[in-house]
Amino acid sequence: MCGIIGYSGHRPAVPLLIEGLRRLEYRGYDSAGVAFVQGDALELLRAEGKLGELEKKINGRNVNMATSGIGHTRWATHGVPVERNAHPHMDNDQRLAIIHNGIIENYQERKNELLAKGYSFSSETDTEVLANLISEGVKETGSIMKAMAWAFARVEGAYAVALVSPDEPGVIYAARKSSPLVFGQGTGENFVASDIPAFLPYTREVVFLEDGELVRLDANSWQVYDAKTLEPIEKEIHHITWDVQSAQKGGYKHFMLKEIFEQPRVVADCLTGRLDLVKNSVRLPELEGLAVPKRLTLVACGTSYHAGLWGASLIESWARIPVRVEIASEFRYRDLLLDGDDVVLAISQSGETADTLAGMRRARELGATVLGLCNVVGSTVSREADHVVYTQAGPEISVASTKAMCSQLTVLYLLALYWGAKKNVLPAEVATRALAGIHSLPQVLEAELPQMRERASELARKYSYVRSFMYLGRGLSFPLALEGALKLKEISYIHAEGYASGEMKHGPIALIEPDFPTFALAMRDQLFPKVKSNLEEVQARDGRIIALTHPGLDLTVDDQWIVPEVWGPLNTFLDLPCLQLFAYEMADYLGKDVDQPRNLAKSVTVE
Ligand code: AGP
Repeated sequence: MCGIIGYSGHRPAVPLLIEGLRRLEYRGYDSAGVAFVQGDALELLRAEGKLGELEKKINGRNVNMATSGIGHTRWATHGVPVERNAHPHMDNDQRLAIIHNGIIENYQERKNELLAKGYSFSSETDTEVLANLISEGVKETGSIMKAMAWAFARVEGAYAVALVSPDEPGVIYAARKSSPLVFGQGTGENFVASDIPAFLPYTREVVFLEDGELVRLDANSWQVYDAKTLEPIEKEIHHITWDVQSAQKGGYKHFMLKEIFEQPRVVADCLTGRLDLVKNSVRLPELEGLAVPKRLTLVACGTSYHAGLWGASLIESWARIPVRVEIASEFRYRDLLLDGDDVVLAISQSGETADTLAGMRRARELGATVLGLCNVVGSTVSREADHVVYTQAGPEISVASTKAMCSQLTVLYLLALYWGAKKNVLPAEVATRALAGIHSLPQVLEAELPQMRERASELARKYSYVRSFMYLGRGLSFPLALEGALKLKEISYIHAEGYASGEMKHGPIALIEPDFPTFALAMRDQLFPKVKSNLEEVQARDGRIIALTHPGLDLTVDDQWIVPEVWGPLNTFLDLPCLQLFAYEMADYLGKDVDQPRNLAKSVTVE
């Protein structure tokens, strides 16, 4: 998830592009760049790190002549966040520069063809491949717009791109497929961006571009076309009333809520390029050359640890690999028994959590192979791991982790299938159902989220007087019970205990009383009868119960929260947002600073 902006008008373009990128930094912030035409030259300025580094490069340079240009702030997916991988990227002939948000899945194939034609590449990015492919298209078709259509017909994946060329000064071409792109109509100036905040201070007249559309704009005109046929398309202009802050939150009240509602897209992005429904298999090129682990240890903290607990059950069941899950702050100080037969998988959204890093380094010292599962390209975990698999959740702004956990569960699900297939221990019917099921999951989740929020809001208001909550779950729902309790604690400051339902009678049941309600996960699975009897133990002590459950189950509790049932472990992807939304609605109703809870940091980089 990167931030892109394009401008053509009467103002100095570069300062305006930088300002727009600053309003897009929540979309990515590991490197940035601008390209603009000055005279007949195509100028490119890029820098690694936050936007300030790019500003340092621009300071003192005479860039104010340019009144059109494009800018990009990056969230790396292909290639570590260094200057050579920053956008914009130029073609070999330096006749066009493009910026891109998304992932070109078949970029390696196209790259090999272009290499065979004598093209050269200075970055590891899929975007530089697209720049040269469009350049090849210009040679084939004679025009930039036709060349873009030509190139798009040859790539698979997601993209929002914007392009400038000294051959058409003042003109910007932009197109989208599965990545957001909006056009802003000004007076004597026009804008294009990945999100409205980029140009909101200049215009509130917005055109939402759909997949497969291409826009050509200059300072005084614009036209949208079908990106395949180049037939003109009439578009409606919408008047936007949001302020910049809420626009960055996409109209949501908090980043946490926005990120919960981003989970359908996050699952889809995690699956991009990794599902082969024809061969009924999972592709994880990042693990090429790695033997299937004999023994696997998952090491993490907080929410990532809970994701690990869930993943361990699947890897054990589908890949028949012995797995243990370790809290990193304990693991790192133990007298560990690890050797070359061990694989240690460090799970970390930020890739900078000190305890998880120390656990990785300890494992390496003992000869284990170290894998990284993280969300930040170029983070320390990703740099130090022998192999890294990225979770493609995009930047997670809210301290309370939500979409990152969803993405971790998605990749752990794929890992279990991948290793199970490699070991030839995964039954074909399980593979078929598992792949088909997760492929259709984003739509199911998208459809269910609004009413999940409604139910969460009802229950949060009803139980807002409560000062303690017990969360219970069994099997794959046990890690979710832990996560539900953590979310409620960290953003609403209500005391909450997450417990395996079967553990209740070994102590915590002593806490049960009417004002210490239980949030139970009572889903339709082979453990339901066990969970039901645990809930009867709670009711026997006048404990009140909210039960997240499936339709048609025989369960009498104070409040049922019915969620639709899907296949096996995929139910978790519907249950998790319910727990996140309950905590969110409770914290918001109690007036808490949801995105920046007290005493917490997004990444715990201290010992
Ligand atoms: C979760 O909402 C918290 N922010 C926290 O528990 C977090 O999961 C933990 O600090 C681990 O962070 P990481 O995934 O970046 O390593």
